[in-house]
Amino acid sequence: MPKKTIVDAINAQISREFNAAYLYLSMSAHFESQNLSGFARWMRLQHDEEVGHAMRLFGFLYDIGGSVTLQAIKKPTATWSSAKAVMQDALKHEKAVTKAVNDIYALAVKEKDYPAQVNLQWFVNEQVEEEKTLGDILAKMKLAGDSGHALLLMDRELGARASG
Ligand code: FEO
Repeated sequence: MPKKTIVDAINAQISREFNAAYLYLSMSAHFESQNLSGFARWMRLQHDEEVGHAMRLFGFLYDIGGSVTLQAIKKPTATWSSAKAVMQDALKHEKAVTKAVNDIYALAVKEKDYPAQVNLQWFVNEQVEEEKTLGDILAKMKLAGDSGHALLLMDRELGARASG
């Protein structure tokens, strides 16, 4: 049976993952409104990934004898000043998620909860990948500057993201 501190922390993380999913869905809607369908598709897939993260923790909590208590999902931001501002916001959000994941990992170490540590290692790695991906996209956007042509090329590139 997991300790209550661990169950509470994982429940809070499930909520964070759903909040991330909702934010990315809002970003997708924003890109659709800007006729940037490649960015919109990328964000929709990002939403799906975040739901997957939440469900991974959902299943884990039951595997270890805990139980899920879902929390409210915040209303996400709906508009941004530019495509770059959206991606900057996404990176900022991922950095906050990384901190949360690391904090839960530290708690699992403190509580000597080895199954939680093993499960959370997947999330630690995933956060490295998420931050790198967004950082790479932002670096390209910086190179593109104010070029509409470069933005459309990026839209095409991001739209080619494979699902799953
Ligand atoms: Fe599941 Fe992007 O954090």
